[in-house]
Amino acid sequence: MNAIIGQPVSRVDGPAKVTGHATYAAEFSLPGLAYAAMVLATIPRGHVRSIDRRAAEAAPGVLAVMTHEDAPRLPYKQIAQRPQVDAQSGEQLHVLQDDQVRFNGEPVAVVVAETLEQAVHAAELVRVEYARSPAVTIFDAKQGRPPSESNAKAGRVPELGRGDAEGAMAGAPVRVEARYVHPREHHNAIEPHVTIAHWEGENLTLYDKTQWVDNDRKEIAHVFGLEEGNIRVVSPFVGGAFGSALRTWPHVTLAVMAAKRVGRPVRLELTRRQLYMAVGFRPHSEQHLRLGADKDGRLVALQHDVVQQVGRYEEYAETALSPTSHLYQCDNLHARYRLVEMDTNSPCPMRAPGVVTGVLGLEMAMDELAVELGMDPLELRLRNYAEQDQQKGLPWSSKELRACYETAAERFGWARRKPEPRSMREGGTLTGYGMATAIYHSDRSGGSASVALTGNGMAVVRSAASDMGPGTYTSMTQVAAETLGLPVDHVRFELGDTNLPYAPVHGGSITMASLGNAVVAACQAVQGKLASLVRAAQQGPFAGLAEDAVVAREGGLGRADGTGPAVPYAELLRQHNLGWVEAEGSAQPGEETKKYSSAAFGAIFVEVRVDELLGTVRVPRMVGAYDVGRVINPKTARSQCIGGMVGGLGMALEERAEWDARFGKVMNANLAEYLVPVNADVPSLEAIFVPNDDRDFNPLGVKGLAEVAICGVAPAIANAVWHATGRRIRELPITPERLLG
Ligand code: MOS
Repeated sequence: MNAIIGQPVSRVDGPAKVTGHATYAAEFSLPGLAYAAMVLATIPRGHVRSIDRRAAEAAPGVLAVMTHEDAPRLPYKQIAQRPQVDAQSGEQLHVLQDDQVRFNGEPVAVVVAETLEQAVHAAELVRVEYARSPAVTIFDAKQGRPPSESNAKAGRVPELGRGDAEGAMAGAPVRVEARYVHPREHHNAIEPHVTIAHWEGENLTLYDKTQWVDNDRKEIAHVFGLEEGNIRVVSPFVGGAFGSALRTWPHVTLAVMAAKRVGRPVRLELTRRQLYMAVGFRPHSEQHLRLGADKDGRLVALQHDVVQQVGRYEEYAETALSPTSHLYQCDNLHARYRLVEMDTNSPCPMRAPGVVTGVLGLEMAMDELAVELGMDPLELRLRNYAEQDQQKGLPWSSKELRACYETAAERFGWARRKPEPRSMREGGTLTGYGMATAIYHSDRSGGSASVALTGNGMAVVRSAASDMGPGTYTSMTQVAAETLGLPVDHVRFELGDTNLPYAPVHGGSITMASLGNAVVAACQAVQGKLASLVRAAQQGPFAGLAEDAVVAREGGLGRADGTGPAVPYAELLRQHNLGWVEAEGSAQPGEETKKYSSAAFGAIFVEVRVDELLGTVRVPRMVGAYDVGRVINPKTARSQCIGGMVGGLGMALEERAEWDARFGKVMNANLAEYLVPVNADVPSLEAIFVPNDDRDFNPLGVKGLAEVAICGVAPAIANAVWHATGRRIRELPITPERLLG
């Protein structure tokens, strides 16, 4: 049988998606379903003075109006600290538990009605009077404070470094120093967040948009003081999430409370506008870098301060210092991470959380250093290539970044770049070439899967995983098909249900490195189980053989010595009167983190064209080369990478939450005014995978693929804009007014 891992298999769930047969959370139809709508606070801080609910209660179809005055008091138990990879904050916003308003957009009431329209209408009739308190709505980097101890323990450290950064900086012959600003960004997934809550006695079922059904269950169990066993979470399809669905948000709690109140299943779907207040976002960041180098471009000192905004009612922190700690060789380094508390909803992970921010500053500063040195930016990276993770003092489990640089530079035509800015002009159009490095740490976590071999020749593989878009359904199907020796269309992968074997978070690019190995283990377990059944039988081709005499071969079992034909699984099941045979397998991280540091790498090269008079920036092409370890499916992997490029383009040129400090509110909370790239913005995107297979990181050899692809894109574009125009725009996005200003 030909290898299935490594083949560009089309999405196995593609037909269901394009024909509308894929059921997303909002689409589960339950008898008696009622609809909820939220009333959100309109002040940034203060308390509710009064709520007049009479008009809402009298409106047609209304079943209930709930406010802090009559909502049940919930226990909101704390979730114990979890391992770093899986750590997500438990819900800290105690929704409808008191009269306090902590941010503009905090829910102050929920209305339930027979139809969505009736609920939305009635929610508008709820009259709320507020008493406003002074609020912190302006980001002031000087107010930064270190993250808490629990965040530090989970790797979001306040400081890190080595050597004597200050001393070495003072003696460095070449120095650059700069400050970079990146605004608050929003996920803007196509599918809005939505929950259907359905109580049956003491049992609760949630149909939810989530990247992690087990965490959803755990959080709601803690909020309500329920046993996890009484809660089931179902989430078979997710229409994009990028980190916003790693945890529950207040609307989930509201849906559960509302369903209890009205004694019917309740659906609560956020509007597009509410997505800017009722779930998280990428926090506003400001960073300050100082780079010191010798005359040959070797870094002798590196200082990096990152300051981000954080909500006041819970602390969300990121690993923003991680790229700086190990991307380049540098003996003297100091990095610092600070949080500025503001009266806002809490930020949350958004595609390469923290890392994308750290890489932005570092890779723009490296470009500035290259200019100062009069050195090619790619050459500068090569001179500072980190042969090991200097911060951890560990070798890389694998690193093919040099191959990434070479491959992408060659494909892009980097050699054609003229070093001087503004030197590649055609009429009124200035062309610029820019590049940057990408890195994202590789993690893995424990997970399980089950495999059932059935009499009709199918294998059904199950795990409580998620597929928010990268293609988990497809890539796991490939892993199982190859391990079992079955064709892809004889394997069905099922996910998104807490009734299935435990899966870790679908985030942090860990899904394949974690769960892929569990799927392999489960396939091997079911093969072993079938082999023992047929060896123990009275008759049949393998009856009475020793344990090591029967092995999996060609979609069935065969003799280890190669004699005789392989007998297909289905044939064996028939011969032995077995309807099916099922087994579970799991995989846990090993000792690899003690021996190695692991990361996915990339090199991204972009061309920009700037209209000198209008200040508009176009990006005709981007070429990225990536070392992500082994690639399970080059087709879905490419989708991940070009998706990351598009996200990075949005970050560089378009995306910005327009924040009105008077109200502590995002003013462009819609897809008409919050700009994201469209097809016309992204003509040519090329993603190349350099060969690698990282068995020192995990048995499947994958390193994780998703987040690395957005890292480095925005700085590469900003660097290209400098090359085109001679203007260094240090605050994103690079808009025409900034470029002309
Ligand atoms: Mo991602 S931000 O790990 O969903």
